[in-house]
Amino acid sequence: MKLNIALLAGDGIGPEVIAQAVKVCDAIATKFNHEINWTPALTGAAAIDACGEPYPDETHEICLKADAVLFGSIGHPKYDNDPSAKVRPEQGLLKMRKKLGLFANIRPTFTFPSLIDNSPLKRERIEGTDLVFLRELTGGIYFGEKGRKDDGETAFDTCTYTRAEVIRLAKKGFELAMTRSKKLCCVDKANVLETSRLWRETVQAMEKDYPEVTVSYEFVDAVAMRLVQWPNSYDVLITENLFGDILTDEASVISGSMGLMPSASVGEKTSLYEPIHGSYPQATGLDIANPLATVLSAAMMFEDAFGLAEEAAAIRNVVNKSLENGIVTEDLSGKNKAYKTSEVGNWLAENL
Ligand code: IPM
Ligand code: MN
Repeated sequence: MKLNIALLAGDGIGPEVIAQAVKVCDAIATKFNHEINWTPALTGAAAIDACGEPYPDETHEICLKADAVLFGSIGHPKYDNDPSAKVRPEQGLLKMRKKLGLFANIRPTFTFPSLIDNSPLKRERIEGTDLVFLRELTGGIYFGEKGRKDDGETAFDTCTYTRAEVIRLAKKGFELAMTRSKKLCCVDKANVLETSRLWRETVQAMEKDYPEVTVSYEFVDAVAMRLVQWPNSYDVLITENLFGDILTDEASVISGSMGLMPSASVGEKTSLYEPIHGSYPQATGLDIANPLATVLSAAMMFEDAFGLAEEAAAIRNVVNKSLENGIVTEDLSGKNKAYKTSEVGNWLAENL
C-alpha cells in the first residue's frame, strides 16, 4: 500500500520522538511491503521562527493532501513566560485542529503488565485498566470569545457548545462503546454550567438510538477523584474540551508515564496522530525523552487511518517487548540503565 504521511515534528522533544516513530514506521513498511512517502512540514515555534505563523497555509495544504498526519508536540518556554506574546505556538495547534475539523480526540489509557509498579498508584487499583477518553477538540472555552475589558483589569473566556457539536462527538462515543463493553460515561458539570446541561440533555436524547449502551452521567470533579481511585470502573468517557485536557493528563499517571500514552484526532478531513505529552522543553536535544507515546500513536494511525491492524499489532508487540527487556528511557528505567531516545527507536526498528 502507498501511504502518504504528513510529518509535523514541531517543537521541543517533538523532532526527537518523531524521528523514532519514523524509524519504526519505515521498518513496518519494509516488513509488510508498504511504501511510505513522508512530507515534513513546519508547525509551532519552529514555524513562527521561519515565517511568523505557527500553522502556515503551506503546512495546512500538506496535511489536507496527506492520508494521515503524524504530529510531535508544540510549545516553547520563550512564549510561556511572555503573556503579552501576540503569536504563540499553541495557536498553531488550535488552528490546525479547527481547520482540519478534528473534533474528536481519542485518548486511550491502559496499563502495561511490565510497568504496573511504575505507577505511583497501587497495583490493585490500576491493574487491568483499559479506558478511552473521547475529548471534544474544536469547541468549548478553547475557542469561545475571549478578551480583556476595563482597561485590561478584567479578562474573560467563554465556553460555548452547539447541540450539533455535542451530537457528533457523542455519536463517536456511543459507537466506540458498542465495540467495547457498552458502557459510556458522560463527564460534565451540569450542576453549574449551562453548556453541561446541553451536553447532558443531548446525550440523554441519544440513548434511545443505542439501547444496548449503559450511560452514566458524572460530574467532572467526582470523575477526577474516581479516575485514580477506581479507574477500572470506566470504559468509554466523553467530555468537553477543557475537562478532557485535564482528565487525560491525570489518567496518564495510571500507565506509569506520560511518555507512553498515544492519541488520535479525527473529524472531517485528514486524521492526526500525536502523543498526549507536550514539548518537554527541559529535555530538548538531550536524547532522553520517551518516544513510545509517539510510536504508539503511529500504531493507532496504521490501524485507524489505513485499516492495517496487523501492522499496528506488530508495533504494539515490539513496544511491549522493549518494556519487558528494560529498553526504556530514564522516565521508566528506575535504578536500571536508562536508554537514549534514539537507542529505543533503533531497538524497536531492529526488532521488527
Ligand atoms: C494537549 C495540549 C494542548 C491542549 C495545548 C498544547 C494547547 O495540552 O494536546 O492536550 O491544551 O489541547
Ligand atoms: Mn493537554
